[in-house]
Amino acid sequence: MSVMEWNNGEVIWMAHSQEDTMRLARKLAELAVPGTIIALDGDLGAGKTTWSQAFAASIGVRDVVNSPTFTIIKEYEGEQLSFYHMDVYRLSMEEADELGLDEYFFGDGVTVVEWASLIDELLPPRRLEIYIEHAGDGAREFRIKGYGVPYAQWCQLLNEMGESE
Ligand SMILES: Nc1ncnc2c1ncn2[C@@H]1O[C@H](COP(=O)(O)OP(=O)(O)OP(=O)(O)O)[C@@H](O)[C@H]1O
Ligand SMILES: [Mg+2]
Repeated sequence: MSVMEWNNGEVIWMAHSQEDTMRLARKLAELAVPGTIIALDGDLGAGKTTWSQAFAASIGVRDVVNSPTFTIIKEYEGEQLSFYHMDVYRLSMEEADELGLDEYFFGDGVTVVEWASLIDELLPPRRLEIYIEHAGDGAREFRIKGYGVPYAQWCQLLNEMGESE
């Protein structure tokens, strides 16, 4: 069972299972539009890829979504939106800069970046930030905060949607 808390513009989503993590992904997928940017952070094994896979499925990606740790960037076609999945863990700032990430950030799909804080200066300031933390066996805490239009409002909308389906 998920528990959602509202903390000064930030949403705290406590997932007690992977199903709860998927539920959060489905809710955010409902808000996604072309050009959406979601920055994911959290320790190794926190659940960044697991959340991304659920999010991709929710925007209609039928292909298998693998961890992009080695591919760095992978593009998928969803039914509603394209999905650009990045993992910048192994990149230096300079290497990331040379990839021309703006093409994705300002493209027509949804970009999800794992380890986003490592390339903070290259990210557009308007984005949704999700920080994932281990919270015991099978449990994860998601702290979600939106910066700029429309993301700041997303947390409010998420809060209004409630915890259940
Ligand atoms: N509630 C949960 N939500 C997400 N993942 C969970 C949950 N409970 C357990 N897990 C497990 O935690 C692991 C998360 O691994 P995942 O690869 O998604 O992490 P990651 O943050 O992408 O790691 P990395 O930093 O290596 O990319 C998976 O094995 C998943 O099954
Ligand atoms: Mg990962």
